[in-house]
Amino acid sequence: MTLQFNVEGGDFARAGYASSQIKKILKEIGVDPDVIKHVVVALYEAEVNIVAHAYHGVITADIEKEGIRIVLDDAGPGIPDIPRAMERGYSTASPEVREMGFGAGMGLPNMKDNTDSLDIESVVGKGTKVTMYNKFE
Ligand SMILES: Nc1ncnc2c1ncn2[C@@H]1O[C@H](COP(=O)(O)OP(=O)(O)O)[C@@H](O)[C@H]1O
Ligand SMILES: [Mg+2]
Repeated sequence: MTLQFNVEGGDFARAGYASSQIKKILKEIGVDPDVIKHVVVALYEAEVNIVAHAYHGVITADIEKEGIRIVLDDAGPGIPDIPRAMERGYSTASPEVREMGFGAGMGLPNMKDNTDSLDIESVVGKGTKVTMYNKFE
């Protein structure tokens, strides 16, 4: 099963839509609740990163028998130094974004901790592609 969602930069009201839809579907097909929790945490963070840091993006989720692969492809500023961005507490979030309660710099570390694999490719001035995978058991 393949699902797609569009994400618009700045649209915090809708951030979390894709993760809640995926959560519903994984529940329906009987995936382990602990696995669902991990997928939802990682996807929510990735979704918020598009809203907070990019212009727009497309989320493609592939649900297979053994696990779920999610690709988040955005048009945005890109990430110049990925290892630095992965550090706990590192954030370039604007004051406006911080005021809304985002920008703790824990999104990428949380994505790493909640996935079986996480791959980030980014081109400065073009965008970022995040690929995450979670096994179902
Ligand atoms: N999709 C993205 N596009 C551009 N920059 C990003 C993206 N995702 C993450 N970043 C960069 O990596 C940093 C760290 O991300 P994260 O750990 O989620 O922290 P936060 O979102 O709280 O700033 C961000 O502040 C930003 O500089
Ligand atoms: Mg973040």
